[in-house]
Amino acid sequence: MSAIIKLEKKHFPVLLNELVNIISPHYGGTFIDCTFGQGGYSKRILEYKKNQILAIDRDKDCSEQARFLKKKYKKRFNFINSKFSDLENIHLPSSNIKGIIFDLGYSTNQINDLSKGISFNSTGKLNMRMGINKISAHDAIHKLSYESLWKIFKYYGDEKKSKIIAKKILQKRIKKNILTEDLVSITNSIKKKGKSKINNSTKVFQAIRIFVNEEISELVNGLINAYKILPIGGIIAVVTFHSLEDKIVKFFFKEYSEIKNSSRYLPNLKTSEKKFHLINKKPILPSREEILKNPPSRSAKLRCAKKISNNLDFNFFLEKFKYLTEIENLIREI
Ligand SMILES: C[S@@+](CC[C@H](N)C(=O)[O-])C[C@H]1O[C@@H](n2cnc3c(N)ncnc32)[C@H](O)[C@@H]1O
Repeated sequence: MSAIIKLEKKHFPVLLNELVNIISPHYGGTFIDCTFGQGGYSKRILEYKKNQILAIDRDKDCSEQARFLKKKYKKRFNFINSKFSDLENIHLPSSNIKGIIFDLGYSTNQINDLSKGISFNSTGKLNMRMGINKISAHDAIHKLSYESLWKIFKYYGDEKKSKIIAKKILQKRIKKNILTEDLVSITNSIKKKGKSKINNSTKVFQAIRIFVNEEISELVNGLINAYKILPIGGIIAVVTFHSLEDKIVKFFFKEYSEIKNSSRYLPNLKTSEKKFHLINKKPILPSREEILKNPPSRSAKLRCAKKISNNLDFNFFLEKFKYLTEIENLIREI
């Protein structure tokens, strides 16, 4: 990870050209940038004079960059410090929304801000909050039961050693507060560095971050609400960075799209049930050049779909990922 941190210092918006090709900002319209970050996508879209942007980010530290764009683009740019799951309740600047964009996960600024404790290069009190949170990683690590901790590591991190790690955390926390560096030592003491390129702490850190930021329900509700506020013909584009988020986005678009089911034993959707036309059947991946310039982009996948109906039945999608969203209820233990 330390190599990634060094290379991540400069911010490169991931799959930017590919995204622009899909949303066609040169025709003009309103776009919602649900994950403003350092404004990489917003800035590019605003280069086309007929466009308006409504930018959202849960991290209030983005406000400075947002103020800069507001000064430059005036009425064409607005920023709201909010979570994208709340899209349905946000006042829209126009009903002519052409595209809603999500670039999931955390930004270079957030990982470089060691006080946020997202990277395992951080030290001190555990945090991992992106903004507008109920709890921190410190609360999760110190207050959740053994059962809850291993479930989080297993389901949100796909961590094979989830039970041993959870047990060790419980043994340690009786004696002292577990700091970020202690959590790294715990995972290092349990996981032997094998051939895997990923750091021993990656999965545990990812799992806690997803839990603390309630990222699964954010994504599930963000996608549903994006569909609800988008006019027919509008595009939803999502960049994911790990398999758990990609699984959710892929299912959302494919399940409700007009393409035939992959299994010949399953009935195809009735026309009335279709919500999307898939713009790309396979995800768009970064080019070799982009990966060389910005190595963390290697895990990015861009999926996009065009809305073709106003069908508001999402029960199947909600049920499918209930086993993941329900884990967030463990927050009540804290
Ligand atoms: C990968 S960065 C986006 C980078 C941006 N596309 C750019 O080019 O600068 C992701 C951003 O999304 C924000 N974010 C993550 N989850 C969010 C949510 N549920 N609601 C609002 N913002 C969120 C993070 O705070 C972070 O700033």
